Amino acid sequence: MKSDERLPDHIAVIMDGNGRWARKRLLPRKFGHREGVRTIDRVADDVFGRGIGYLTLFAFSTENWKRPEDEVTGLLSLFDNYLTKKLPKLERDGVVLRVIGSERGINDELRGKIAEAYERTMRGTKGNLTICFDYGGRADIISAVNRCVELGEKVTESTFPSFLQTAGLPDPDIIVRTGGERRISNFLLYQMAYSELYFSDTLWPDFTAKELDDILETYSRTDRRFGGIGEKR
Ligand code: IPE
Ligand code: IPE
Ligand code: MG
Repeated sequence: MKSDERLPDHIAVIMDGNGRWARKRLLPRKFGHREGVRTIDRVADDVFGRGIGYLTLFAFSTENWKRPEDEVTGLLSLFDNYLTKKLPKLERDGVVLRVIGSERGINDELRGKIAEAYERTMRGTKGNLTICFDYGGRADIISAVNRCVELGEKVTESTFPSFLQTAGLPDPDIIVRTGGERRISNFLLYQMAYSELYFSDTLWPDFTAKELDDILETYSRTDRRFGGIGEKR
């Protein structure tokens, strides 16, 4: 990546492929999830190290509760450990840690940790890491609409985003999905109206900084027209 290249402000990632990564090695799926957390560390250091301000990660969808109970329990406990173990580093590095999602299946203790993580990091100025856990794009839109209805408020395209759980974050410039599937799986449906989409066949635990570099390079050459005729005409 050359220094004069245009960087995005916000990268969002659908981290897919942990289960297949484990299966390829004849390991239980939880090993793939564990390895996937290591990739988060690498990617977050890389993104914030480059001065990109926002990284948003899809960790658990509103539909992922359908998975076998032991897998769900394992994912909840990995998430819990992540908050406990990474908080001091994020605090030191000045990275604000937000968690968004419905919190339906999350117990009070974990809820407390999520709140503490934000309180301890909210003054950070280096970057913003948002973890989407029990997140669904449809649920986000529907609960925002319901709040508007309760308040009796008529919204516009400029006021509606403040009712979404991503309030305060810019829309993602880039959405990356690893793991080979070409679908959105109920991620940031409203926010991605003009995001650039990158689908990678790499399984999330194998995703590297080099691959992110290639995506950033392609992004910097992309003419984002937003319905207009673009800069390069
Ligand atoms: C992504 O990996 C992590 C979550 C959705 C929680 P998967 O667990 O979906 O991995 P694959 O798609 O089965 O390989
Ligand atoms: C999307 O992956 C959700 C996350 C990465 C958290 P899934 O593995 O749940 O998506 P589908 O089921 O293949 O669409
Ligand atoms: Mg998957």
